[in-house]
Amino acid sequence: MRVGFRPRLGYDGFQHNPSFPERFAHVTTLSTNAPAGRPQIAPLVIGDLVVDPPILQAPMAGFTNYAFRQIVREFGGSGLLATEMVNAKGFVWLDEQEAEHPDRLWGVADEPRPLAVQIWDNDPETLAKVGRRLVEDYRVSVVDINFGCPVRQVTEKAHSGSYLLREPDRMGRIIERVVEACAPTPVTAKTRLGCTRDKIVIHDVAQIVEGAGAAALTVHGRTAADMFRGSADWETIASIKPHLKRIPLIGNGDLDTPEKVLEAFTHFGVDGVMIARASLGKPWLFAQAAALLRGEPAPLEPSLDEQRRLMVRHFGLVVDRFGEQKGSVLMRKYACCYAQGRRGAREFRKHVATIRSSEEFFAVVERWFPSDELPSTGRQPTGSGSSCTA
Ligand SMILES: Cc1cc2nc3c(=O)[nH]c(=O)nc-3n(C[C@H](O)[C@H](O)[C@H](O)COP(=O)(O)O)c2cc1C
Repeated sequence: MRVGFRPRLGYDGFQHNPSFPERFAHVTTLSTNAPAGRPQIAPLVIGDLVVDPPILQAPMAGFTNYAFRQIVREFGGSGLLATEMVNAKGFVWLDEQEAEHPDRLWGVADEPRPLAVQIWDNDPETLAKVGRRLVEDYRVSVVDINFGCPVRQVTEKAHSGSYLLREPDRMGRIIERVVEACAPTPVTAKTRLGCTRDKIVIHDVAQIVEGAGAAALTVHGRTAADMFRGSADWETIASIKPHLKRIPLIGNGDLDTPEKVLEAFTHFGVDGVMIARASLGKPWLFAQAAALLRGEPAPLEPSLDEQRRLMVRHFGLVVDRFGEQKGSVLMRKYACCYAQGRRGAREFRKHVATIRSSEEFFAVVERWFPSDELPSTGRQPTGSGSSCTA
């Protein structure tokens, strides 16, 4: 039986009553697999920024806009949030046309700090110029440079993202220029292990990144050729650590439970972690993981009724910005993520993938959102063409 959802409340009704994430922050119920000991994982230091807890919300194009970040922020547990990657050339072009800045900077000027904005291109001067603008006009906490995107449009067409792993000297020049332009705001780099599994270059790249003045290095434990296939190689992530003398290492890849996050610190020795896909359907994961890092039991995940209401709140944020029609279309992929791994998710996805209005959204949520919890299947979206993308 489906209970507790009142579509007539609409998103406005829920928006003015955002008590659920607040309540979650104070949940003290023991999870069944709470740790016995008291790990005390130190905060992460990026330049002069203290990231506490040392758990970062990953940049995800098409997903980590202001609405999503706001949801993550309300649950807590992430010490540093990030935007979607911003095309630096596009930014410069818009600036020259005196047009509005990229949509991906929605919320950035005013939302709480700390906040990282990620930029991509292959030209040091373009990136430096955009980095400077982000620091001066937007007062961002961190400028992150993308050296990991494996998508053809970015690699083959623009020789950027993970393509630059073939040109580590250029990576170094880019970082030097951006660091110089953004000082004293910290500049960080996010990349992968290499282009292919038989050519792992991350150890040399790590030294170049550090030598060029970056304040932290994030490594996704796959190669560009892997895209999202196979598993993240955490042994190789761990092996990077001795190659860095001054800056912290942030590990990323396949962290989808609080226990895996804790293990990344205790077993693989990283200084920080970054979570991407798993947080799309479970934005409370950061708060659960943060509790384990403090040596406290992880709060239980919200009930399905609470998840339903959270989704409605998320819908409200999206519709406020984009209007009902565009917001409904945009919400499809988030709604799919919220249902992922639950009994009935397939039916829900099928129906939510066609919504065009608030009315349709509420009707589908009421009728089809999973009503009965199953243990998570551990399945995750696999990139921008993922099952999470309606
Ligand atoms: C839909 C999607 C969009 C992504 N967009 C970006 C991006 O804009 N910048 C970036 O550095 N990485 C991006 N990534 C990669 C993630 O930040 C992360 O490195 C990767 O998903 C591995 O982490 P996970 O296993 O926790 O998902 C994206 C991943 C996905 C699934």
